[in-house]
Amino acid sequence: MGRNIKKIAVLTSGGDSPGMNAAIRAVVRKGLYHGFEVYGIQRGYKGLISGDLIQLNRSSVSEVLHRGGTFLKSARCLEFLEEQGQQKALKVLKEKGIEAVIVIGGDGSFKGAKKLHEYGIKTIALPGTIDNDLGYTDYTIGFDTAITTVIDAVSKIRDTSSSHERTFIIEVMGRNCGDIALYAGLASGAETVIVPEIGFNLEEVVDSIRRGKTLGKSHNIILLAEGIGNPYEIKKQVEEKSDEQVRLAVIGHLQRGGSPTAFDRILATRMGAKAIDLLLDKKSGVAIGIEGNNMIYVDLEIAINKRDKLNMELFELAEILDK
Ligand code: ADP
Ligand code: F6P
Repeated sequence: MGRNIKKIAVLTSGGDSPGMNAAIRAVVRKGLYHGFEVYGIQRGYKGLISGDLIQLNRSSVSEVLHRGGTFLKSARCLEFLEEQGQQKALKVLKEKGIEAVIVIGGDGSFKGAKKLHEYGIKTIALPGTIDNDLGYTDYTIGFDTAITTVIDAVSKIRDTSSSHERTFIIEVMGRNCGDIALYAGLASGAETVIVPEIGFNLEEVVDSIRRGKTLGKSHNIILLAEGIGNPYEIKKQVEEKSDEQVRLAVIGHLQRGGSPTAFDRILATRMGAKAIDLLLDKKSGVAIGIEGNNMIYVDLEIAINKRDKLNMELFELAEILDK
């Protein structure tokens, strides 16, 4: 049995996601409950290297549960990719006597977490990204809020699409993962969903527009995941081939903000609390996920390498519902 750790820290890194604050809050409150001293590292690995740490108490996390973004700030930090930067970070942790770090971020941040673990720092990772691109967990913190935002945008765009009997292409985020487009497409009844995992078939897109016209539809919504390529080029191709007016809306960073949904708040809270349980259990080098409705954890190596696979059943269902 190893000695109990006393000081722990939490950071948010990479693209922010709604629910990160809820996760930090759970880490702090549950951590304090179990007698840890809890520190917040500002601006992810950047703040870890520069020693930008603040001690967090119960009231530091008051009024944050419902807020989007991350009050600890987030950053991408090239210096931490190099051993020299990592050594600086280790020095800071050593000087402050911090033995465990909870990292909230996406797969890039997980790689940084794995490094900390390999250097002997107790490290637990939480999936904070709107992309839902981590295959070991059913959902990531922020995904549900992002698709809720997209559904709202689609419903507004559908109004003008209908009025002008125009086709709209709506580009959504997700890097190389089509989950935001697919789930939001299903939930908003988009006519076509285009994702990088499947690719783009111009004929099928144009067929769907024509079928809609034959059925008397006055709107047509194509949800396009950003990983597929240049949306302006795709718009041009669809316009030329269909001989219809097409408009493009790029929703962009709207999807990264906003008050987290109930689902994300609960997911983030459970994951933050689970991180403390795992530290009490002397675990390190693992990432927390949700499978079914259960909290799980897997080695960071697995979490990093198990990429999200598109749910083909859902994709085919979206196609059937447009027929
Ligand atoms: P996300 O966590 O959202 O995927 P990034 O891919 O930008 O975002 O990664 C966030 C940060 O994690 C990077 O800026 C860097 O500081 C750290 N990171 C990414 N990859 C590695 C790596 N291979 N080794 C160490 N740190 C890494
Ligand atoms: O990983 C989250 C994400 O929002 C992706 O969906 C998107 O490709 C990327 O981050 C955008 O990054 P940035 O905020 O640096 O423009």
